[in-house]
Amino acid sequence: MPRENVTPNINYIRRLYAKQDALLERLTAALPAEFAGWQVAPEEGKLLQLLITLRGVRTVVEIGTLAGYSAIWMARALPQDGHLYTLGKDPAHNALAKKFIGESDVADRITLIEGDARDTLPTLQSKGPFDMVFIDADKLAYPDYLDWAEANLRPGGLVVGDNTLLFDAAALDAPPEGTAPATWNAMRRFNERLADEKNYFAMMIPTAEGLSVAIKRL
Ligand SMILES: C[S@@+](CC[C@H](N)C(=O)[O-])C[C@H]1O[C@@H](n2cnc3c(N)ncnc32)[C@H](O)[C@@H]1O
Repeated sequence: MPRENVTPNINYIRRLYAKQDALLERLTAALPAEFAGWQVAPEEGKLLQLLITLRGVRTVVEIGTLAGYSAIWMARALPQDGHLYTLGKDPAHNALAKKFIGESDVADRITLIEGDARDTLPTLQSKGPFDMVFIDADKLAYPDYLDWAEANLRPGGLVVGDNTLLFDAAALDAPPEGTAPATWNAMRRFNERLADEKNYFAMMIPTAEGLSVAIKRL
């Protein structure tokens, strides 16, 4: 969530329910300014924890690491023997993630897999089926990531996708100026697939950027 959207209500919610510890504060402060707002907001981190807890999730694949902020939130909700694989392709982001995941209390529950997720996802296949896939990377590839999730989630597993309102473009009838038609089509297709009740029981939580949560039926 972009920092400028932090309203008094959001601040109140954060203070009550989603306090960041010193490590997450330091991680956030270490992010170069151009990436401020790329990571999930604290209240979304807590919401991911709630989903993990409600669904009894033990294994998570996260596509899109940045500095490890959401990975640390999620791993903290996993049981001791749970595991989260997080996939990041940018070497500078991965260096930050290694530092902060390494300093966290859940380092043993997180594996960072470096490289383009299109190349690294197939290497995870043998470790599945997984309980949850969290998609938070390049928007054009969301349908490809959903293909992978469909094939590698257990029945009843969770697909969670961030930014599914595509920065206010998804709700429009055509891609607006500044949004690549291919990306707009990809996100529309992704959302329509999750909304298809034959395959998913789903909802898009109307956060500022849209957070889709779907239970895979079969
Ligand atoms: C929105 S940020 C992720 C934020 C993170 N989930 C959090 O909340 O802390 C997106 C990240 O995905 C990475 N990314 C983009 N395309 C990718 C790809 N094809 N494979 C792996 N990582 C990718 C970007 O480099 C960036 O670090």
